[in-house]
Amino acid sequence: MPEPPFSHDPDVHRAETPPGSFYSDPAAYAAQAALFARSWQLVTPPLPQREHATPWTLLPACLDEPLLLTRDAGGVARCLSNVCTHRGAQVLHEACAAKALRCGYHGRRFGLDGCLKGAPGFEGALDFPRPSDDLPALPLEAWGPLSFTSVDPAQPFATFREPLDHWLGGLPWERAQRAPEADRDYPVAAHWALYVENYLEGLHIPYVHQGLVQALDFGSYRYASTPSGTIQIGVAPEGDPTLALPAGHPAGERVAAIYVWCFPNLMLNVYPWGLSLNLVEPSGPSSSRIRYQRWVWAPELQDQGAGGDLERVEYEDQAVVEAVQRGIGSRLYRRGRYAPAHEAGTHHFHRLVLAALGANDKQA
Ligand code: FES
Ligand SMILES: [Fe+2]
Repeated sequence: MPEPPFSHDPDVHRAETPPGSFYSDPAAYAAQAALFARSWQLVTPPLPQREHATPWTLLPACLDEPLLLTRDAGGVARCLSNVCTHRGAQVLHEACAAKALRCGYHGRRFGLDGCLKGAPGFEGALDFPRPSDDLPALPLEAWGPLSFTSVDPAQPFATFREPLDHWLGGLPWERAQRAPEADRDYPVAAHWALYVENYLEGLHIPYVHQGLVQALDFGSYRYASTPSGTIQIGVAPEGDPTLALPAGHPAGERVAAIYVWCFPNLMLNVYPWGLSLNLVEPSGPSSSRIRYQRWVWAPELQDQGAGGDLERVEYEDQAVVEAVQRGIGSRLYRRGRYAPAHEAGTHHFHRLVLAALGANDKQA
């Protein structure tokens, strides 16, 4: 079993937060790529139309995995490797209409399903072609309006989607319209895990987000953990818009927002108007990109309540996590502790990190 990147007590009352090196050491950052390769990742570009293909790099500056999204004449969408099985050239460089794919280096041809169709110059090659001469296919799965893939999934998609079905089922996903005009990309000068940790605790909200204090009833904030993430429920003050949830829904009454975090880097924020998601893309030991996308089912409610001024909240969060990045580099900072009543989600995150790195130590 690999050496744990830090010791960690399973009991939140005793545990210490990770040391600064976890968030700043280039070797630690390189090792963390393994957990992204084994996780389910959101497919960020739209899936192509029939007989079209789109090249897509999964997590640039982290996994840097060249992929290809295709849809064949029969309407089947796929996620394939964009690396030619001959000598490794990139097969497709730009999104295009395509009945087949052709590598520009030596002319090898593939179907939109990745199967090898032709290999100029290979007459006489023995034991050729083999299945490994096809473009490798990754799983492509759907949940609501979202698509997911994984290079080497550590858990089946059915397990990944379970908390989404449980907590976000019964909402009008069939009416959700993608709103690309609301897309935002923010560079943040902080390690990806610092951004995630900040998302997982509400303790900072009264200090950092004065505006949110009015939009949520803090006495009633609820929290739950799932095997691969966390759920936070924001309760609306009297008179504010609430989510139209089916009777008996586990989120309870007067729900202003459901915040679902999916390990390691996806946040689904559901408001009365629809879904705002943020994806944390690691881009270096002390830098990340936060990518926002939106799906809307009730546009008239977009400016109200907890789902109103999201940009202001985002800037407030970014400013604090960037300050933390500078802080954890201090020669005088060692390790912190968890506030048990508020930071169980952060502690759970660190347990999942250790488990995903194959190093869920008992020896704290
Ligand atoms: S690398 Fe693609 S055909 Fe040679
Ligand atoms: Fe925040």
